[in-house]
Amino acid sequence: MARVAERRSLGRNEHNEATLEMHWPMNYVKSKQRVADHGEVFTPTWMVEAMLDLVKGETERIDSRFLEPACGSGNFLVQILQRKLAAVELKFRKSDFEKRHYALLALMCTYGIELLADNIAECRSNMLEILADYLNLEESDNQYQAAFYVLSQNLIHGDALSMRTSDGQPITFAEWGYLGKGKFQRRDFRLDILTQASAYSAEGDLFANLGKHEIFMPTKTYPPMTVSELADGFIHVALAPSPREEA
Ligand SMILES: C[S@@+](CC[C@H](N)C(=O)[O-])C[C@H]1O[C@@H](n2cnc3c(N)ncnc32)[C@H](O)[C@@H]1O
Repeated sequence: MARVAERRSLGRNEHNEATLEMHWPMNYVKSKQRVADHGEVFTPTWMVEAMLDLVKGETERIDSRFLEPACGSGNFLVQILQRKLAAVELKFRKSDFEKRHYALLALMCTYGIELLADNIAECRSNMLEILADYLNLEESDNQYQAAFYVLSQNLIHGDALSMRTSDGQPITFAEWGYLGKGKFQRRDFRLDILTQASAYSAEGDLFANLGKHEIFMPTKTYPPMTVSELADGFIHVALAPSPREEA
């Protein structure tokens, strides 16, 4: 966490420190073995920012969805969340109710997959810290616990290549939406089916004329949920072993 906080503190224009980072590659690796085994080299903040600027408009839209299939400890996801929260602040700062709900929606629209247990645990904790700081949340707040639950659903400990979780289940992602008046909707989709989208729409394909809704059926649809109903999920997740303990 300290390592990420340290890196996060580097602003876009802090060229001297960025230059120092570029010449100090050990900042971006945990061990040579992990680089060899998993290609684990973290991306410096200045590079993350430059890459996100290529899709600036999307990063500043609260409900645009981002999936980082090798998310590490969240260097991209953290910056995406920060940009989305800046958009929340611009649009909803005058209404505490809307601000809180749209900030949670921003979190709901960020997804990640990571192979290593310690990285996914760090990633969840880094993301939670960003939201909690923004909304001034305590661990006992419903909003904090709802966010904890959302992160347990959106940031998956698993293998992006086989599209399976660490316990061998097919990876599913929750498609969240905000219905207004404090209610969220959720539908779950299997990643392996979602990734076939382009194949199905290829010209001449048997399914090319079908609407996407006819191919992409949710594996589960939930009734609308409030923040406190989402927070109820926290208890189940908090009692389950964390990815670090599973490993
Ligand atoms: C090059 S690092 C990048 C981490 C992060 N995206 C960043 O830019 O700082 C690659 C990450 O992908 C993870 N990884 C490697 N193979 C993976 C796989 N098949 N599925 C999910 N994650 C994987 C590694 O553990 C590592 O954390």
